[in-house]
Amino acid sequence: MSQKTWGGRFEGGTDAQVEKFTESITFDRRLFRHDIRASRAHAAMLAEVGLIAAAEADAIRAALDEIGTEIEAGKMEFSISLEDIHTHIERALIARLGDVGRKLHTGRSRNDQVVTDVKLWVRDAIDDLDGLLVELQRSFVASAEREAGVVIPGYTHLQRAQPVLAAHYFLAYVEKFQRDRERLADCRKRANVLPLGAAALAGSSLPIDRESVRSALGFDSVARNSLDVSSDRDFLLEFVFALSLIATHLSGWAEEWVIWSTTEFNFLDLPDAFCTGSSIMPHKKNPDVLELTRGKTGRVIGALQGLFVLVKGLPLAYNRDLQEDKQAVFDAYDTVSGCLAVAAPLVAQTKLRRDVIASRIEDGFLDATTLMEGLIARGVPMRSAHEVVGKLVRLCEQRKCRLADLPDAEFATALGEPGASATGAAIKQSLGVANALAAFKSYGSTAPTEVAKQLADWKTKLGV
Ligand code: ARG
Repeated sequence: MSQKTWGGRFEGGTDAQVEKFTESITFDRRLFRHDIRASRAHAAMLAEVGLIAAAEADAIRAALDEIGTEIEAGKMEFSISLEDIHTHIERALIARLGDVGRKLHTGRSRNDQVVTDVKLWVRDAIDDLDGLLVELQRSFVASAEREAGVVIPGYTHLQRAQPVLAAHYFLAYVEKFQRDRERLADCRKRANVLPLGAAALAGSSLPIDRESVRSALGFDSVARNSLDVSSDRDFLLEFVFALSLIATHLSGWAEEWVIWSTTEFNFLDLPDAFCTGSSIMPHKKNPDVLELTRGKTGRVIGALQGLFVLVKGLPLAYNRDLQEDKQAVFDAYDTVSGCLAVAAPLVAQTKLRRDVIASRIEDGFLDATTLMEGLIARGVPMRSAHEVVGKLVRLCEQRKCRLADLPDAEFATALGEPGASATGAAIKQSLGVANALAAFKSYGSTAPTEVAKQLADWKTKLGV
């Protein structure tokens, strides 16, 4: 009998080049645990409905466990002539059990089998990613707590904008990674629908019980339409989209810290263990981990593009093109989990150079917007207040000074109240970064009380 699961229809063997061209065992072998898990549930169900004997199901499950142990120990010999992990495991089962092994594939097809395995794998991958994201969030929360009270410049267009608490800055990333966790949890819902039992495309004429398999494998529901099942890779596109967004968040953060670690900024003291040197320039300490994090994001987004192009023109139901989904998904997952694993300790071990930040914090008119809001609060129309402060900033630039250095009279004049130097003096007291920061009030702002509340909430939520 042919080693191929479909050998009966064929007279001759497969061309060696074709075997090499069509195999997936070199990359789908990492699904072996999930394949075995799904097959165990399938065998149990076949016995429940009387398609095989209970003793046969027991023998199949015991042999599947042995095969799993063998693969785990690196003892299985993989061969491209057996195409994929499903065929390898089935062949190993038949080698052990003969005709009993030949019964396992009853009422299923590799089309519903492969997508079941991948869904089980994605569920595990999402759970692992959630753990990595929590670790990274905890690092940011720990930094927020360690640097609480430190004021840093906030930027828009990478130009100094308004002062923010360092804790506010770190917690901004906690929010992004929280959304990433929510997105993954949402993707998990649609991945958690059982494909098995859709068989090749139309279902089965045998009395299979899909509900039994669903409950054994912990799926939330059973896929309703068998034709949809073998073509559906939506959950993979969603998964790789969620990965792409995580990578994008990491990339933006990495870019920011690359900039912050330059001599020009000098805001950060990156840990030596997460940097590398130069083979020719002895003084260099390069932020390679951050750069690679930024760079690897391209791979992940590329995987998403690849998947879209892969599925965009496929008719129902299974098409062999779909075998190409796995490398993109595995690579995107490996890349993002690798990035997350190094990001968490890097964040935890990086300290702000508080002295450098403080020595330049009064540069760049970080208090200008709060000054404008102070004028608005005193009844000056917003656009007029904007104009007044803009002119004062221009004056400071000419005189190479700060807003707080201007004489009281300049404020009174700018406000059209010459002589009323009391107004000017009162306004001046709200200048400077410390005053500007203390003036914030709104929900979600960088106001110290707001940030303290957020920090406390995150500490509770993340168990820090
Ligand atoms: N190796 C295949 C894949 O990964 C398994 C499904 C093959 N199905 C088929 N009808 N040839 O997609």
